[in-house]
Amino acid sequence: MRYTKINGTGHAVPPKVLTNDDLAKIVETNDEWISSRTGIKRRHISVTETTTDLAEQASLKALEASSVTIDDIDMVIVATVTPDHAFPGVSNLLQQRLNLKEIPTFDINAACSGFVYALNLADKLIKSEAYDHILIVGAETLTRLTDWSDRNTCVLFGDGAGAMVISKSEKPGIKDIIVGSRSDTEGHLICDSPDLKDPSVNKISQQDHIHMNGREVFKFATRVMPSTINQLLERNQLDKEDIDYVIAHQANKRIIEKASKDVDIPMDKMYVNIQNYGNTSAASVPIAIDEAIRKGHIKPGDTFVTVAFGGGFTYGGALINL
Ligand SMILES: CC(C)(COP(=O)(O)OP(=O)(O)OC[C@H]1O[C@@H](n2cnc3c(N)ncnc32)[C@H](O)[C@@H]1OP(=O)(O)O)[C@@H](O)C(=O)NCCC(=O)NCCS
Repeated sequence: MRYTKINGTGHAVPPKVLTNDDLAKIVETNDEWISSRTGIKRRHISVTETTTDLAEQASLKALEASSVTIDDIDMVIVATVTPDHAFPGVSNLLQQRLNLKEIPTFDINAACSGFVYALNLADKLIKSEAYDHILIVGAETLTRLTDWSDRNTCVLFGDGAGAMVISKSEKPGIKDIIVGSRSDTEGHLICDSPDLKDPSVNKISQQDHIHMNGREVFKFATRVMPSTINQLLERNQLDKEDIDYVIAHQANKRIIEKASKDVDIPMDKMYVNIQNYGNTSAASVPIAIDEAIRKGHIKPGDTFVTVAFGGGFTYGGALINL
């Protein structure tokens, strides 16, 4: 039986920081509202950096932290909703930047759950023995899609990237993964592509932005996070005491607090870094995992659960032994 493991992580964010006070100069909001409703204090935003720039920086750190070299990587999967171009994908651009050999590279879009979906693919492909070492990345410049005049959404998002090298292993590291999707038939969380254009008129559409029904997304998130964690525990015959840490998608601190209460895992076991980054979509989970490892919150031998949800409505979770 072949197993898989995390073999190096890294993350990167653009240097420019936008605080809640900075946002209060743009829209009618204030630090007290944003902090108390979301837990966010600041976020990093790209000025010139592209999604590929951030993905490259995060990947180099993950490779440096791993036991493999660039030549050992035999696939790249990038989860993003904000690629630099419709094509080529961020993964293809990364191949050029990192000087990777001729390997399959592709992007996936499962919104904020994208990184867990990429992890699922990497895990299954390595277990099939077709590949040995896969670089997976969650990278976003979500603030490009932000409507800076809409206080309901513009306070929530930030930019960044997180990367992970997933490798074959003799011992079980990535123990179980759940991914799923529950149709968002009402379009509670959506960002349109540019309108279809009549080529004879060739009208230029307005820039498209994120549209969100916050309360409905909140309801979905607070239902699916506890159920995913509980399912992972049940089907692996584990108790909540067996979990050293939970690393959830950072969308709202109150969502994490509600999940902590519902699964009865204390908040000091729930990683929270939303105060520094806001919601970075597919980058949120790998940024949080890398930070938690580098700060020593998760150590070799620890068991942790990661869980995410997002547009679609997609969701995913993984049970991992570091
Ligand atoms: C968006 C969210 C923070 C709003 O929090 P909330 O407690 O539900 O707030 P409400 O929607 O009840 O809004 C309360 C009031 O604050 C106002 N408000 C909204 N944004 C504001 C802001 N940035 N500053 C000040 N006031 C704001 C609203 O207009 C509303 O005013 P009204 O009562 O006069 O209409 C919360 O619903 C949420 O986090 N949802 C999930 C979002 C998410 O996770 N998205 C990404 C998924 S990947």
